[in-house]
Amino acid sequence: MTTRNRWVAVDRHVEDILLRPDEVLDGMPEAITAAGLPGISVSPSQGKLLFVLAKAMGARRILEIGTLGGYSGIWLARALPPDGLLVTIELDAAYAEVARGNFTRAGVAPLVDLRVGSALEVLPQLSAQGVGPFDVVFIDADKAQYAEYLDWSIRLCRPGSLIVADNVVREGAILNARSKDPRVQGMRRFLEALKADRRVSGTVIQTVGMKGYDGFALIVVM
Ligand code: SAH
Ligand code: DHB
Ligand code: MG
Repeated sequence: MTTRNRWVAVDRHVEDILLRPDEVLDGMPEAITAAGLPGISVSPSQGKLLFVLAKAMGARRILEIGTLGGYSGIWLARALPPDGLLVTIELDAAYAEVARGNFTRAGVAPLVDLRVGSALEVLPQLSAQGVGPFDVVFIDADKAQYAEYLDWSIRLCRPGSLIVADNVVREGAILNARSKDPRVQGMRRFLEALKADRRVSGTVIQTVGMKGYDGFALIVVM
């Protein structure tokens, strides 16, 4: 078995043992790609990680930047109490329509405020509208702007809030200061911003699995 296949097999094994059969979530990543969206939803075990973290935080308000088809959003929304709120931001109106359908099917639509638009336009609107403070933020949109998303997330949080950012390792490509990939440069700039920002403290945990080799930043607001 190749190393990569072993990562996938262990992910499947963890799913088989620890993730109960789920009428809504099972097959949803495949349905999302069948609808023409990119296959970049979090994996099932990563979705459950988001659920575990949000539950452990006792989250009542969650912000997600980058909805895609709503797969990670459903995991997050399921951690909320009945009067909780998930604000999730998606640039692509067609993706947002797919997500809307999935939120409805999952029964979480009443908890979800899906904002269609560019995150850097929507985030100041949330601030101006007094939405928040958020207990948990999941940053998973365009990688080049993660540093700006971190700044806005902090402003929309409270001391003790948790900020999770996806895809911060990129198979180790973040080591390459000369990379021409704007996603890699965006991630390098994000980590420098995290280092310099005294409002937060965070670290990076590398991950392997069905989505390959990548990692999450886990950040607490001070
Ligand atoms: N969190 C999702 C996956 C998100 S993929 C899940 O795991 O299920 C990244 C998403 O960010 C894409 O849907 C993309 O359209 C969206 N996106 C890209 N640039 C954006 C921007 N500037 N503002 C808001 N969303 C953006
Ligand atoms: C990509 C984006 C993601 O959010 C992800 O988890 C994996 C891949 C991408 O844009 O390629
Ligand atoms: Mg991602």
